[in-house]
Amino acid sequence: MSDAERLFPLRLGFFASHEGSNLQAILDACRNGTLPAEPRVVIGNNSNSGALKRAEAAGVPSFHVSGRTHPDDAERDAFQLDLLRRHGVSLVILAGFMKKLGPKVLSAYSGRILNIHPALLPKFGGPGMYGKRVHRAVLAAGEKETGVTVHLVTAEYDAGPIVAQCRVPVGPGDTVETMQKRVLRKEHEFFVETLRKIAAGKIVL
Ligand code: GRF
Repeated sequence: MSDAERLFPLRLGFFASHEGSNLQAILDACRNGTLPAEPRVVIGNNSNSGALKRAEAAGVPSFHVSGRTHPDDAERDAFQLDLLRRHGVSLVILAGFMKKLGPKVLSAYSGRILNIHPALLPKFGGPGMYGKRVHRAVLAAGEKETGVTVHLVTAEYDAGPIVAQCRVPVGPGDTVETMQKRVLRKEHEFFVETLRKIAAGKIVL
């Protein structure tokens, strides 16, 4: 088996284009030794994102790759795959990345791409279900609980096999904002905890 085919030790490649708070939680856990994994590269499609700034501050190689830098979908896909391979990535993590990955990255890392979603999939997922929209839909449905899902990424939004899930209560006084805050805090803990289980072989990808 070549180096690139080995999952362990975990060598993480991130796609992150937003605030980057999940990315930060994982970078912190790697740095303080509570997660045995090595962040190798961060790729973002928004050059001004908190995620790319956090990567830079942590000294992790970071790249802005978008429709602007690579207008051709196939070329962008190939470039992203090349970045992952060049940095020896064994596990890909989507942490606040709303674009679809291309077929080359999807097939090269099939079964080794994780996404985090701020609800209990398969409910409240799919196209258009991101950010506040998710929590608005949970509230509108009168749900008593929501949660966090870590799942494998496939060609369709939020549709890949579920790897781990945890629940978060919804209270009578909750608003979209209070829920978003509570769920996001849980995401930080839960993403790291799930990766720790993968590293320990307690969750097998
Ligand atoms: C999180 O809620 C995550 O579940 C979703 O996008 C958000 C990203 O937040 N996929 P951040 O960039 O990690 O702060």
